[in-house]
Amino acid sequence: MPIATLILAAGQGTRMKSDLPKVLHRLAGAPLLQHVMQTGAAIGARRSVLVVGHGAQAVADTARDIDPEITIVEQAEQKGTGHAVEQSRAALAEFEGDVIVLYGDTPLIRPETLSAMQEARSRHDIVVLGFEAANPGRYGRVIVDGTGALEAIVEAKDATPEELQVRLCNSGVICAPAALLFELVAEIGNDNASGEYYLTDIIALARARGLSSGVVICDEAETMGINSRAELAAAEAAFQARARAELLESGVTMTAPETVFLAHDTVIGRDVVIGPNVFFGPEVTVETGAEIRAFCHLEGCHISQGAIIGPFARLRPGAEIGNDAHVGNFVEIKNAILGEGAKANHLSYIGDADVGDAANIGAGTITCNYDGVMKHRTKIGKRAFVGSNTALVAPVSVGDEAVTGSGSVITRDVPDGALALERSQQVTREGLARKHMARLRAIKAKKLKTEN
Ligand code: UD1
Ligand code: MG
Repeated sequence: MPIATLILAAGQGTRMKSDLPKVLHRLAGAPLLQHVMQTGAAIGARRSVLVVGHGAQAVADTARDIDPEITIVEQAEQKGTGHAVEQSRAALAEFEGDVIVLYGDTPLIRPETLSAMQEARSRHDIVVLGFEAANPGRYGRVIVDGTGALEAIVEAKDATPEELQVRLCNSGVICAPAALLFELVAEIGNDNASGEYYLTDIIALARARGLSSGVVICDEAETMGINSRAELAAAEAAFQARARAELLESGVTMTAPETVFLAHDTVIGRDVVIGPNVFFGPEVTVETGAEIRAFCHLEGCHISQGAIIGPFARLRPGAEIGNDAHVGNFVEIKNAILGEGAKANHLSYIGDADVGDAANIGAGTITCNYDGVMKHRTKIGKRAFVGSNTALVAPVSVGDEAVTGSGSVITRDVPDGALALERSQQVTREGLARKHMARLRAIKAKKLKTEN
């Protein structure tokens, strides 16, 4: 059965106390909305429709950046979840398949859970995602009859005291055939405690027609919706816990998993070893057998097999670390390729550079890539040896097997195999240091004497 996702994201999110629309706040480095869209993509949704309202322009722009094919519909006034679904009627008029309604502020639902709902559709006309709430509070209650069939979803505000005792709650996710969904939504009224059009009313409407609704139950952690910064932080913690557990399960070693922070798209191969306090920003891939030592900050980079990174390394977007390369402490790499077996072990900035295989970058080497207006590239050849504290003023190249003397400021290309030295001659005077110090001490002693 073809699937369309319908993501509701028109609500305001007042409790975030933010100028940024709620669904654009980030979880594991990506907007909440992106998590929901990716879940839809993961179950192979053919169509994706997004209902926007508050912050419509910004939300729509972000959604189109993530998926240019997404259909955006606007709900100018927020009159409830049923009304929000109604806005997508025209967008989904031609769609023959199931629609899964998702919320833009509920980012942790797993694709497997949605697949289970799809599967349950073979037994029911409508499938609702429910959960046993530790504290049901203001969630809608899922009311089941003696045979286990769904009777209705009752909003907390409208529930009787007996209904409020029910712990099975509605997550908001609903799966129904498009035609049926819109037929039922047309019948929803707003005669209830909130004066809103409740999407949840379709369950009772379906039952009145003799149709069956079922419930798939997931873990409460998946249905966590975000309404405040505290909930955003709690969702981040839940995401991290899940992502770390998945990595451990997949064969990654983490000395202190609770101190490793992952992004929504982090990819780490088998037998990678990650030390404590490592942060992964978006778009990081690490190949099999690499080692990330303690206190590294990584984003937008690729680390190849057997490479050793850190401790205390910073890899920024465009850093491409070759097989068995070493990046040591206080080394920053940006938009640069470090060849196979190349080493930059201490205190360096390597930006906009190509470093050849097995090259050695001495401590304190800086690529001076920015002239105040433009960025320029530095090329360092294979097996080149860049002496400590070399400044490479780009654009400039150091050839294969070339050497630069320590402390040099290299402004002109160094050919293959050449040695470039740019520093003044050393002057050495025998015995002068001792003589000089003795003189200074004598001056100090004289000064103390006259003061007393
Ligand atoms: C809804 C459900 C409730 C469920 C709860 C789970 C209804 C009537 N109630 O209640 O059963 O337990 O979610 O969190 O569906 N939205 C719009 N336009 C609107 C109203 C809402 O786009 O006019 C969007 C919101 O941005 C949000 C989602 O729909 O993403 C849910 O809306 P919200 O107001 O949070 O619904 P609840 O009252 O929490
Ligand atoms: Mg809500």
